Parts: sequence; structure tokens; C-alpha cells
Amino acid sequence: MTGKIVLNKEQIEEITAKLGKQISDDLRNDKKLPVIVGVMKGSLNFMMDLLKHIDIPCYTDYIQISSYSGTRSTGVIKLVKDLSYDCRGRTVLIVEDIVDTGNSMSYLIKHVKTHAPEQVKVCTLFDKKPARVTDVHCDYVGQEITGNEFLIGYGLDYNEIGRNLPYVFAASPEDVEEYKKLFEQDSK
Ligand code: IMP
Ligand code: MG
Repeated sequence: MTGKIVLNKEQIEEITAKLGKQISDDLRNDKKLPVIVGVMKGSLNFMMDLLKHIDIPCYTDYIQISSYSGTRSTGVIKLVKDLSYDCRGRTVLIVEDIVDTGNSMSYLIKHVKTHAPEQVKVCTLFDKKPARVTDVHCDYVGQEITGNEFLIGYGLDYNEIGRNLPYVFAASPEDVEEYKKLFEQDSK
């Protein structure tokens, strides 16, 4: 790996502690218990750490969509797994790894609204604002990304590889080449 570390373990702990506290304080007085929804698979690592810092009673659920291939968004979003929990009248907090063009989050918000929640809120580990194509509001942001780097690790993947890393790094062209080779060799 020659790219730069964007978040190490300690920074991840700081961010999840800060966001978990804010979320708990904001949703503590909801009339009904909120539903925290992780977007699979990218947000799972973040979701698990964030939940440890949410100190109010809540439900958890998962939703899965697909839109990416390699380092490019295919632009076509598919719902792979819908919510399992009845979210009517509750706050739904969508937890994502990264909001990039905003297309996935915009789709998710619209979709979750069809389940008639009281309100929909968004928490994302990374907000890549310069890449935005569709305007979406993120209520809780771990870190803003100002360049166009491709991030790998801690849930974020290159063709499904790299999610298990306990840190996040910005892939250098050499890193992308290395991951591409790994993926191609393994797909033979
Ligand atoms: P969007 O629809 O362009 O906002 O893309 C959002 C989804 O694309 C995220 O949930 C990620 O799964 C994926 N994605 C966007 N940027 C990156 C990145 O830098 N690394 C890995 N995955 C990414
Ligand atoms: Mg994702």
C-alpha cells in the first residue's frame, strides 16, 4: 500500500464516539424508538462501532443496494434487500460508509420514505461533496473528503476486496493496479 491513511483505528474510535453521542442526544426524546439502518455492505464496519456509542434504546435493521463496479458508479441502483422492520411513525437513521455522487443516498431516502417513517435522517462516515450529482442532506458526517480519491478499507471496497481492513486509505494508482490484479487473478 502506497496511498495515504485517511482514518486510523484511533480516529475511527473518536468519530464513532462523537457521532454516537450526537445521535443519542438528538433521538433520545423520540415518541417511538428509532430504527438505525445500516446500508450493506459498506457501512457494516462503521455501523457496528457507531452502535456501541448509541446509548438509547433503538432497533437495528439493514438494507442492501448495489451500484458500484471497480472504482466507478454504474449509475444503476438495485434494491437487493429491503427493510425487515416496520418503521411506521419512527425516525429512521440511514447509516452509510460514503456519500459520493449522492445517487444511492437519494434513492435510499426516497425508498425508506415509502415505509412511512416519522422522519429520515442520514449518517455517513465520509461525505465526498465535490463528487455530488444529486443533492442530499447528511445530518451526521464523520469526515469530509475534498478531493476525488478512491477510499479502501473499514467497509469500503475495491470490487469487494479490502472491507476487512481496520483503517481507511486513499488508494494510489499503484494500489488500484494491485487490487485490480488481485481481483482479476482471483476471478480466473
Ligand atoms: P454514490 O451513489 O455515488 O453516492 O455512491 C455511494 C456508494 O458507492 C457508497 O455506498 C460506496 O459503496 C460506493 N463508493 C463511493 N465512493 C467510494 C470509494 O471511494 N471507495 C469505495 N466505495 C465507494
Ligand atoms: Mg455502500
